[in-house]
Amino acid sequence: MTHAQPAPAPDPAPTVAAVVVLAAGQGTRMRSATPKVLHTLGGRSLVGHVLAAAEPLAAGTTVVVVGSGRDQVEEHLAQIAPSALPVVQEEQLGSGHAAAVALAAVPDLEGSVLVVNGDSPLLTSRTLAALVAAHDAAGSVFTVLTAEVDDPTGLGRIVRDGSGAPRAIVEERDATVEQRAIREVNAGVYVANAGTLRRVLSGLATDNAQGEQYLTDALAPLVAGGAPTAAVRADDPDDVLGCNDRVELAARRRTLNDRVLDALMRSGVTVVDPLTTWVDVTATVGRDAVLEPGTHLRGVTVVGDGAHVGPDTTLADTHVGDLATVLRTHAVGARIGPDASVGPFAYLRPGTDLGMGAKVGTFVETKNAQVGEGSKIPHLSYVGDATIGRGTNIGAATVFVNYDGVAKHHTTIGDHARTGADNMFVAPVTVGDGAYTAAGSVITSDVPPGAMAVARAPQRNVAGWVRRRRSGTPAADAAAAAESRSEAPREDPSGPSRADHDS
Ligand code: UD1
Ligand code: CA
Repeated sequence: MTHAQPAPAPDPAPTVAAVVVLAAGQGTRMRSATPKVLHTLGGRSLVGHVLAAAEPLAAGTTVVVVGSGRDQVEEHLAQIAPSALPVVQEEQLGSGHAAAVALAAVPDLEGSVLVVNGDSPLLTSRTLAALVAAHDAAGSVFTVLTAEVDDPTGLGRIVRDGSGAPRAIVEERDATVEQRAIREVNAGVYVANAGTLRRVLSGLATDNAQGEQYLTDALAPLVAGGAPTAAVRADDPDDVLGCNDRVELAARRRTLNDRVLDALMRSGVTVVDPLTTWVDVTATVGRDAVLEPGTHLRGVTVVGDGAHVGPDTTLADTHVGDLATVLRTHAVGARIGPDASVGPFAYLRPGTDLGMGAKVGTFVETKNAQVGEGSKIPHLSYVGDATIGRGTNIGAATVFVNYDGVAKHHTTIGDHARTGADNMFVAPVTVGDGAYTAAGSVITSDVPPGAMAVARAPQRNVAGWVRRRRSGTPAADAAAAAESRSEAPREDPSGPSRADHDS
């Protein structure tokens, strides 16, 4: 079983005393009612990706600066990172101001602090660990992560001196034509000594194009004062890419998905069409599994070794056992046992639990349904609130009638039962082991083990009805022809049929 996420940082992993995530900005360019950092890709929010990347740094304190849409962001943090401390930046006066607000909330903090923009979802733990290791090795008080990119538009430029040492970070709007030609950019990720950062942030000016306190302006005064600083390039420039609008969001989502699928393929998963296969970072896929085109694996989905998923299948928080087959299916919160077979066109809802070798076939919906080993629901059925034993076959077009308009009730079917086509099981009801039910039955009372239940009106044939009531129709003609072909048309000897005249 291989996790879709990139490999963790090498041991021994470098650590920091605190992580500060800047997530108060409005994200105007998203043009959204949802705060920017809550937009999602690959199964996590933007801020969720940043927190996950920083997690292995084992910071004792994690502060998230919130502001725009803070109620929503705080609620989200309570779910995904309950130990993180949300700190409110009342007015969005710039990234430098945001970092200062964060540090003010943890006045006793000493040691290294990682400050990171909340909108960089492609950051990896490995890159962060390398940054912290380089910061430690250089004895730096302020280290900035950088990347060499093809198109630096909109990003802060890294200005280095003749010896290659970093001197300043210049925002594009404030940059000279010469500086704009620089392709090494600021990732928005910094490691700093907490005390040093506190001091330098308190002196930040706002004499820039946006009138804000830029965190990026922390570097130049430290350099001027002779403090040891560093700028460390990320190995993979994609790591540092931010996300300011929905076009960038789509691009980051594609890059993240490519990374996930590459890791899966290198670990022995066949991905038939990477362009149409989307796998969340929280999903895992086993060796020799095959993901057909149009497969989406969401949330905590696990696909076992040798399983075959798709085409056109979405699995959310679903567990697929080894060697199972899931074809053109939508499943949420389901467990599919090893060797089981699902679809085409099945809908598995939460609480579905299919045993080993079980089968859920075409146009079948299941919900809160335990289906035993080797049992089959092959066609056109609804199975809700049910327990089905092992080796049982449910006839086509069966409905488990679980809802009486007020409450839901349970149906239990035993082992090796054979229920007829077009049955209704009106819950609560139990069908015993080895019992049979007749096709078309509406089962309202329990069926003892081994019994055959017949719960339908006996058939009555009204002879000659079509000739009498539908004369002149093709049906009447066909019936007459059939009668004339039979040796003794005793049903109605009163006169010759039209077929007799014709012959
Ligand atoms: C920032 C950097 C830029 C860098 C780029 C990388 C600054 C001044 N510029 O630019 O050098 O190349 O990131 O993606 O930092 N925030 C707050 N409070 C505020 C303002 C911002 O919390 O008052 C947060 C935002 O939510 C965001 C981060 O700080 O997560 C950066 O702000 P953003 O406006 O996205 O800066 P960029 O223009 O992308
Ligand atoms: Ca940004």
